[in-house]
Amino acid sequence: MAHAMFRPRRLREKPLLRKLIRETVLTVDDLIYPLFIVHGRGVREPIGSMPGQFRLSIDELVKDMKDVASMGIPGVLLFGLPAEKDPRGSEAYAEDGIVQQAVRAVKDVVPDLLVATDVCLCQYTSHGHCGVVEGGTVRNDPTLELLARVAVSHAEAGADMIAPSDMMDGRVGAIREALDEANFTDTPIMAYSAKYASSFYGPFRDAADSAPQFGDRRSYQMDPANSAEAMREIALDLDEGADIVMVKPAVAYLDVVRALRDAFDVPVAAYHVSGEYAMLKAAAQNGWLDGDAAALETLVAIKRAGADFVLTYLAREVAERLG
Ligand code: PBG
Repeated sequence: MAHAMFRPRRLREKPLLRKLIRETVLTVDDLIYPLFIVHGRGVREPIGSMPGQFRLSIDELVKDMKDVASMGIPGVLLFGLPAEKDPRGSEAYAEDGIVQQAVRAVKDVVPDLLVATDVCLCQYTSHGHCGVVEGGTVRNDPTLELLARVAVSHAEAGADMIAPSDMMDGRVGAIREALDEANFTDTPIMAYSAKYASSFYGPFRDAADSAPQFGDRRSYQMDPANSAEAMREIALDLDEGADIVMVKPAVAYLDVVRALRDAFDVPVAAYHVSGEYAMLKAAAQNGWLDGDAAALETLVAIKRAGADFVLTYLAREVAERLG
């Protein structure tokens, strides 16, 4: 006799049955909210290419951070826009730099909110590259020392986690060593390990004024065509002391998230980047899709691929709906 027909729809009929067998659950605990901080007071400047996101001065940031914490969002990732740029990005490692001041202010008012900081030079350098430029190229080893100074200055300001995004070789090791020497042995590193040279960073570069002034970032960020190489990058960063590894962007690289999840038994982050956010908002504003539903679907997909948590500009609006 033929087998009885298998009917997957049996488990789809009732909402509670669907809930019972759901494999991936998105909660507010899975979200980190990235923000852009500027000098000044009372600044809340909308970012044109990222509807719903703002450049905030520190006083405005602090107000928002109380909300973010009360929503249960575990943490934020801070990016700074300096008062002035120079070839070596010196505000990035200044004691009173914008991020250092912002971290102190946030930790003062909402000490329990996790504050992670992006460690890179591109917003701070006049040429817009993530490292020191000599003879028209981005030099790796001279950059490491500066990145280590940035990381230590963030830790001194009270940052809970250091997130290097520059993609220089050896930077995780250099930062770990510098943090340890400065007695920040307990400050974790979340490494942007598989960070691709992506056009999806376009809106971020408007927001942070960090576009390279010549050339592009393909000599240090990864080729979008590669995934085996991502595993080598991740292995290196772990070996150098990364505590959490990240794939960036997220949606166009879900296969890399999955490969990482399967190959390494470590915490995995994925960054739903500015361009991914902007596309979703643009389509929703045009009425071309249901933005709220698409936001949740996107974030669940990133978790389903294997991310433990997601860095996303959607964090606040989604947290409101996740309750
Ligand atoms: C800095 C940095 C970038 C992003 C995070 N850190 C931009 C870049 O590499 O050009 C992009 C984040 C986003 O697009 O949301 N290196």
